[in-house]
Amino acid sequence: MSNYHIKHLEEYFQVYRKSVRNPESYWEEIAEEHFMWHKRWDNVLSYDFEKPEFKWFEGAQLNITENCIDRHLRTRGDQTAILFEPNNPDEEALHITYNELHDRVCKMANVLKAEGIEKGDRVCIYLPMIPELAVAVLACARIGAIHSVVFAGFSSTALATRINDSNCKMVITSDGSFRGSKTIDLKGIVDEGLKKCDSVETVLVVNRIDSGVEMKEGRDKWLQPLLDTAEATCEPEIMDAEDPLFILYTSGSTGTPKGMVHTTAGYMVYTAFTFKNVFQYRDGDVYWCTADIGWITGHSYIVYGPLANGATSVMFEGVPSYPDYGRFWEIVDKHKVTQFYTAPTAIRALAKENLEHVEKYDLSSLKVLGTVGEPINEEAWHWYDENIGKKKCPIVDTWWQTETGGIMISPIPYSTPAIPTFATLPLPGIQPALMDEEGKEIKGNQVDGRLCIKFPWPSMARTIWGNHQRYKDTYFSAFKNMYFTGDGALRDSVGYYRITGRVDDVVIVSGHNLGTAPIEDAINEHPAVAESAIVGYPHEVKGNALYGYVILKETGETRNQDNLRKEINQLISDRIGPIAKLDKIQFTSGLPKTRSGKIMRRILRKIASNDTSNLGDTSTLLNPEVVQEVMDNVIK
Ligand code: PRX
Repeated sequence: MSNYHIKHLEEYFQVYRKSVRNPESYWEEIAEEHFMWHKRWDNVLSYDFEKPEFKWFEGAQLNITENCIDRHLRTRGDQTAILFEPNNPDEEALHITYNELHDRVCKMANVLKAEGIEKGDRVCIYLPMIPELAVAVLACARIGAIHSVVFAGFSSTALATRINDSNCKMVITSDGSFRGSKTIDLKGIVDEGLKKCDSVETVLVVNRIDSGVEMKEGRDKWLQPLLDTAEATCEPEIMDAEDPLFILYTSGSTGTPKGMVHTTAGYMVYTAFTFKNVFQYRDGDVYWCTADIGWITGHSYIVYGPLANGATSVMFEGVPSYPDYGRFWEIVDKHKVTQFYTAPTAIRALAKENLEHVEKYDLSSLKVLGTVGEPINEEAWHWYDENIGKKKCPIVDTWWQTETGGIMISPIPYSTPAIPTFATLPLPGIQPALMDEEGKEIKGNQVDGRLCIKFPWPSMARTIWGNHQRYKDTYFSAFKNMYFTGDGALRDSVGYYRITGRVDDVVIVSGHNLGTAPIEDAINEHPAVAESAIVGYPHEVKGNALYGYVILKETGETRNQDNLRKEINQLISDRIGPIAKLDKIQFTSGLPKTRSGKIMRRILRKIASNDTSNLGDTSTLLNPEVVQEVMDNVIK
């Protein structure tokens, strides 16, 4: 029996039991057999939920890029590692082999070194989905620099906040990006952001759109000429198992974004293992995850997990609607994609379009379909199953988080019978628990509660950059000796898990995790705004959309509400990014508050969702009368 590649349900149960009974020996066997180490670990796991501190494979030494690239060169040097599909369908796709990837990564690593980047330095990567993004990530890992990829849809302010939080020394960006029929001036956004950042010494610029941007003397350098003269070999930096590999920011329910820190060995072992099993990847397959590398899905399941398995991983620069709504399916047909991994919001958006966009293409290469990022509704699941998978492809509804590093609860194709809307069973080594509000574990089946994980797993984030206390408070304080996910879940009669959504003030919009507090902070900067509250409400395509309640300052002036709405959304766009814009903005004279002054978001959420039959007891509010006003003026 192979621990590494599970092939049927009975094997899953056997492996799962073993992984729970003796986690150390379970993970040790996998680490030993499937990876390349410079030095073996002294200890598989040590942990302390109180501190909290988690160490996997302590004492081991390795470089993750040797595992993702070098060790494949002898056996599959000429196989495509990254298959780049450009935004423009008329531009040729690029097949980057493992040999070529090796050379590209080494050259980039040498450029980073020549520019003064050393082990432990933070490098911010703000790039579109072009090969240089994956190469830059791996080049950092090659030399032990900590990458912090910022999604290239974030605004200059959001970028600056992230650069400053981790004191990045360098930014790698491009002159611009292609997005469907539009181009975006990324360099301009970086220039604007860097006005507020002192730590950045160098900006390396990829020429992607040939827009002839201005280069700041002494700071900005075109990347290509530096790569042209760089050596194509670079000895990997030998890293300790627990050395940080990257920082990735995720929204919190309050305050600034949290720089989740992932470390090297455990992250590698877990992402590689889950990639192999959840997608049942076999040699010769062509795997495509449509996420952006700016999110954890792209880190773990476009770059590290697939490459650690010697896979062919597709990277798509464009959008599903360009040049038309058939683009995804055209790419599947063209490259004979075997595993396809996307977000429910994309499925819902495409399901609304004419089926001709699907039927034009041959999708018979597909073997496994996946979803991630938010709960998938039943209708979207069936559309995916029938029209894309033709009812012959298992669908894996994968639940996980930026913080978990890798997939936690998911069917294993051909092993776990799938049920729409259920992420089903925990992967080996993952021990979920449902907790009640008093902090007691709810045992048995047909129950629901707050989803926690009660035993460490290798790819868990180890801290929040620069704020370990916040890490402790956010994830390890609500329930003793447990990691709290922030999600609610139910466990059905056979033990399958269904994620019911966030129980905190994070709203998942089109699969993007958005904290309401930073959006409120942005709105409150508007000179006319006194106070605001943001909630999520169900949306047909996006899963959730954002609804804003805004109290204006009393100035005696009358203002045009439509203009105000535009200005508020512009502010949000500038401070956070267009993804955080509000779909509906209601102006109100007050917000329902508790006697201690806390906004009752539960009530606002219900009103925005048009679900006012059971608002609960509002009489204990500080201002019960305001509830009626809010209800009367709700925007439908
Ligand atoms: O609420 C859960 C939801 O997305 C959150 C994590 O968001 P993020 O850190 O951005 O990572 C997204 C990609 C891994 C979770 O707390 N979520 C993620 N996957 C699912 C999901 N909700 C339901 N079903 C899923 N499959």
